[in-house]
Amino acid sequence: MTKYQTEDSLFDQKHGVLKNKLGITDKEKLQSVEIQHLAGAYKQAAQEYSERHVFTEQDIRYLHKLFLGEIYDWAGNYRSVDLSSEDIRYCHAAFIAQNMQRFSDELSNMTPFEPNFPKREIVNRLAKIHGELIIIHPFRDGNGRTTRLLCDLLLMQAEYSPIDTRSFYNAEFIRKYHSAIQILWHTNDHTPLFNLFEPMILK
Ligand SMILES: Nc1ncnc2c1ncn2[C@@H]1O[C@H](COP(=O)(O)OP(=O)(O)OP(=O)(O)O)[C@@H](O)[C@H]1O
Ligand SMILES: [Mg+2]
Repeated sequence: MTKYQTEDSLFDQKHGVLKNKLGITDKEKLQSVEIQHLAGAYKQAAQEYSERHVFTEQDIRYLHKLFLGEIYDWAGNYRSVDLSSEDIRYCHAAFIAQNMQRFSDELSNMTPFEPNFPKREIVNRLAKIHGELIIIHPFRDGNGRTTRLLCDLLLMQAEYSPIDTRSFYNAEFIRKYHSAIQILWHTNDHTPLFNLFEPMILK
């Protein structure tokens, strides 16, 4: 439960789910519908994006909409409520637009990923992109999954395999991953995220 959820009109307090276009009030049902839509988004994005594509914030919004557009009205739009998890407070809603603009410039300079990049370069860029997008946390929900989708599209450009997303549902991994995000947030050092991702990024 995040600190601000009580003031959030997008959240259905009674059922403990985000209000959605499908009128789903059951948490598990909503989760499984989201999983189906995420799979659809992977399929479509993998077809649409070329290996030469330069990514910007428009693509991030598009990917989020591709994933959640049929479920939530706010898909593809930046959040207007402040959010935090237990040990981290994300970018203030009022600063998202400017932070995403800065991030968009960095992202476009770092893409496309190319097959001839050394692995070190791939992991380095990926850790920066992944970490920064999570810290900005531009959307009301779905930031983790959209970030992983974006990262997998970039890995495909470099002819690497997508990251095994099962790790992101493993408690021990999550502990290390969250800690790496928090270090980035506090010190601007993406080395822990680099070290965590390095063995997971494979041809
Ligand atoms: N305690 C924490 N410390 C650091 N980062 C966190 C913490 N809790 C969550 N995160 C980050 O926020 C993401 C979750 O954000 P959000 O709920 O918007 O995305 P999601 O796609 O719905 O969820 P998930 O990534 O769990 O599938 C996580 O993937 C992680 O990157
Ligand atoms: Mg979530």
